[in-house]
Amino acid sequence: MKYLITGSAGFIGSSLAVALLERNDEVLGIDNILPYQDIRLSHARLARCLAFERYQHSDIDIRNGQKLGALIQNWQPQVVIHLAARAGVRAAEQDPQSYIDTNIQGFFNIMEACRKTPVEALVYASSSSVYGGIERLPYHESMPIEHPLNLYAATKKANELLAYSYSHLHHLPTIGMRFFTVYGPWCRPDMALLHFALSIKNGKPIDLYNYGRHRRDFTYINDIIQGLLLIIDHWESKLEIGANGPYAIYNIGSGQPIPLAVYVSWLEQYLGYTAIKEQRPRRSCDMLATYADITAIHRDFGYQPQFSIEEGIRRFSVWFHDFYA
Ligand SMILES: NC(=O)c1ccc[n+]([C@@H]2O[C@H](COP(=O)([O-])OP(=O)(O)OC[C@H]3O[C@@H](n4cnc5c(N)ncnc54)[C@H](O)[C@@H]3O)[C@@H](O)[C@H]2O)c1
Repeated sequence: MKYLITGSAGFIGSSLAVALLERNDEVLGIDNILPYQDIRLSHARLARCLAFERYQHSDIDIRNGQKLGALIQNWQPQVVIHLAARAGVRAAEQDPQSYIDTNIQGFFNIMEACRKTPVEALVYASSSSVYGGIERLPYHESMPIEHPLNLYAATKKANELLAYSYSHLHHLPTIGMRFFTVYGPWCRPDMALLHFALSIKNGKPIDLYNYGRHRRDFTYINDIIQGLLLIIDHWESKLEIGANGPYAIYNIGSGQPIPLAVYVSWLEQYLGYTAIKEQRPRRSCDMLATYADITAIHRDFGYQPQFSIEEGIRRFSVWFHDFYA
């Protein structure tokens, strides 16, 4: 099979590319590695993909619709997995324009290219953050999502709406994946786990917003990859083609939320350092809790998370000590 993955030098994109390449699929990855992130880490992730002969890379910017369209038309992938985005809640406050350009214009460019080529299906990253201010837990895909608490969440909700219209009008099969706080080896430095690990290692204090009481449905990267592979392999038999068009949205999480303070204590244990903790009040952009109802993806695809938080953090710590030695 020929897959195109956007964001292939990113945390989830590189992990998915390696998983597809290991089973002999062909992958074309797109990533332009801009300097808002840790470039050394991005290049190291990309090197994992480039180690496979069946991997090809393009550094085009998804904001450039013309180049993107020509690339997809030329390469003719069967399925496009769109993961490139400005990710993260807090950076969106500092640089909102780039979130609009990449997450909205870039997403539109991907859909247009998929429609024109055409490809068999578009699988794309949404986020648990679309549930925003909803207080009822766990979050189910059928809940109305009217209150994104930050711009990042709003762009992800917009993606789901845009995808719906393309599925409905152009019969482009689209499957949106609402990822719940993904963590593990190769994760992003702006995410709590790696940000905390680097601070703890360097003897710097870490900020525990809402006094560490936020509960998050932390999901180990291998479980996310398991879910993505199940969707990529079996979407055709499961996607409802009716009045809604070939369109679906799935939560993908662990279904076992824990408080941030507990997450940090596992991290201290496996890193072998003690954190200096600064207790901070809640910020308005932060959700109080995330908790995935994973009944739908389990029912349709047999998805079952395999990794406990303890095992996930243990594996992360092994990677961290090795990479940042
Ligand atoms: N990691 C999580 O916990 C999480 C949770 C919910 C949703 N998501 C979503 O999943 C996707 C992947 O997340 P991630 O954690 O791997 O993020 P990441 O930042 O590690 O990966 C995204 C990649 O996209 C690339 N990119 C950004 N803008 C680009 C552009 N204009 N052109 C080409 N490439 C560009 C970046 O260089 C980066 O390598 C994102 O859409 C994110 O919003 C992630």
